[in-house]
Amino acid sequence: MARIIIDADNTRGTISRHIYGHFSEHLGRCVYEGLYVGPDSPIAHVNGMRSDVTAALREMGLPSLRWPGGCFADEYHWKDGVGENRKRMVNTHWGGVVEDNSFGTHEFMELCRQLDCEPYVNGNVGSGEVAEMQEWVEYMTFGGESPMAAWRERNGRGEPWKLKYFGVGNENWGCGGNMCPSFYAQMYKRYATYVRNYGDNRVFRIACGAGTSYGSGPGLNLDWTEAVMKHAAHLMDGYSLHYYTVPGTWQQKGRALDFTEEEYYKTLKKALWVDEVIRRHAAVMERYDPERRVKIIFDEWGTWYDVEPGTNPGFLYQQNTMRDALVAALTLHIFQKHCGIVHMANIAQLCNVLQAVILTDKEKMLLTPTYHVFKMFKAHQDAEALESVSLDGRAGPDGEWSVPQISHSASRSAGGAVTLTVANLSGDTAAEIDLLLAGGPYTLRGGEILAGPMNAHNTFDAPATVAPAPFNGFAAGRSEPDGTRGTLTLPPCSVVSLRFD
Ligand code: AHR
Repeated sequence: MARIIIDADNTRGTISRHIYGHFSEHLGRCVYEGLYVGPDSPIAHVNGMRSDVTAALREMGLPSLRWPGGCFADEYHWKDGVGENRKRMVNTHWGGVVEDNSFGTHEFMELCRQLDCEPYVNGNVGSGEVAEMQEWVEYMTFGGESPMAAWRERNGRGEPWKLKYFGVGNENWGCGGNMCPSFYAQMYKRYATYVRNYGDNRVFRIACGAGTSYGSGPGLNLDWTEAVMKHAAHLMDGYSLHYYTVPGTWQQKGRALDFTEEEYYKTLKKALWVDEVIRRHAAVMERYDPERRVKIIFDEWGTWYDVEPGTNPGFLYQQNTMRDALVAALTLHIFQKHCGIVHMANIAQLCNVLQAVILTDKEKMLLTPTYHVFKMFKAHQDAEALESVSLDGRAGPDGEWSVPQISHSASRSAGGAVTLTVANLSGDTAAEIDLLLAGGPYTLRGGEILAGPMNAHNTFDAPATVAPAPFNGFAAGRSEPDGTRGTLTLPPCSVVSLRFD
C-alpha cells in the first residue's frame, strides 16, 4: 500500500495562481474561431468573443493569458492590429495563412476583461524595433498626453489598461531570431530599458529563457540561462522556460489518440522531466540572483503530438485524452512543489492547439480531460502549499519508462480548507493509499474523480465521455486531535481532488 503524509501546519510557500495560466497564439484555430469569431458571427458572442468558450473558461478559473505568441510574437507588428483599415500579413510560422489583424491589442484586452484575467503581452525582438516596443507599452499603459495615448483614444479607448506581464521576445535562440545567448542578453537589456513604467503601472519584465528537451546534456540548454542571467538578471523580473512533452521524436512525435501502452508511460516519464528542468535552471539562476528575486515564468508547456490526420500540419490541432489529464495533473503538482521560484506557467495552448483545454468545431465546443483537471485543481490557486511526502511503488515497464505510481500535492486555502489532489499514473492497477493528514482533525467535505482508459477522450458527438464524477473512494480512518487518517482507492489512470476542513 502507498502512503501520503501531509503536514497541514507546515507550508512551503504560496502557490501563485498564475501557475494556472494559459497561452493563446495566432496559430491555427486558437485565436480565430476558437476564441474570437468577430462581431458579425452567427455564433453567440460578446464583442466578437465566443460566449460558450468564455463562459467555460471563467468557470475553470483562468488567472492569466499570454498573447500573441510564441513564434508569432516575433513577427507581429502591433500597429497593424489597431484602428481602422488593418494591414494584412502572412503568418509565416504557422501554415502561411493570411492574418487580417482583426484581433489586436484592443480585442485581446477585451478578451481578458471578459475572462477576468491578467494580460501577458509578448513583444517582438526578432523582427521589431526598440521604438515599436516602447510605443506599444506607451499605447497600452500611458495615461497622460502623448502621441500613443492620443492614438489609443482615437481608437476608442481613453483610459489606459493595466498591464503587468510583458515578455521581451520569445525563443530568440530559434524562431525569434536564431541569436546566441550573449547577443540576446545585450538585445534584452536594450529593449527592456524602454519598457517603461507609466503612472502607477508596474511592468514585470520577462526575459526569453531556454527551450529545453528531454534528457540531460545539451537538451537542458543551461548555457543560455547562464549567459542571460549573467548579463541581464538585474533588469528582469521573470525568466521564461519552455518544455514540451513529445513521446517520440520531433520528426515522429506520436499520435494523440492511437498510442501504445509503452508510449503512454514514455509520455508520463517525459512529462516528469519538468522537475529536472526547473531544478537545474533554478540552480544556475541562483548563482546570479541568490535572493531568488527573478522568478521562473514557465510560459510554454504541454504535450505535442502529430497533428490529427487530415488537418493542416501548420495548425497543430490534436485531440486530448486521459493521458493528457495525467500529464496536466503531474506537471501542475511539480510547479506547486517549486512554488518558491515558479511564479507563472502557461499551458500551450488555450483552444484548438496542442494540449488545449477547449476544442471547437464551428458552433460546437467540447471540454477536454485537461480542462477538467484545471477546474478540479482550482482551489490550489493562491493557497499555501503544504509539506508532504509520498511512498509508493512504480508503474509501467521496468527500465527508463517506469514512473512512480502516484503524484500528489496538497494546499491550504486562506479559509483553512485543505485541498489534496492525487493522480494514479498506472494504466492498469488501482492505487491503495494510506493517508495521514497531520495538523488537526479534518473532515472530508467533498471529492471529485476523473478516470477512464488511457485513450478516453471527448468528441463533438460524445462531449461528456470523460467528465468529473463524485469520488467515493475515501474510507475515513481513526481521527485524532492532531491528525486524520483514511484510505484512498484510486482506479487506474485517474485524477482525484479532495477537500477537507
Ligand atoms: O506553441 C507552439 C510554438 O512552440 C510556439 O509558437 C513557440 O514559442 C514554440 O516553439
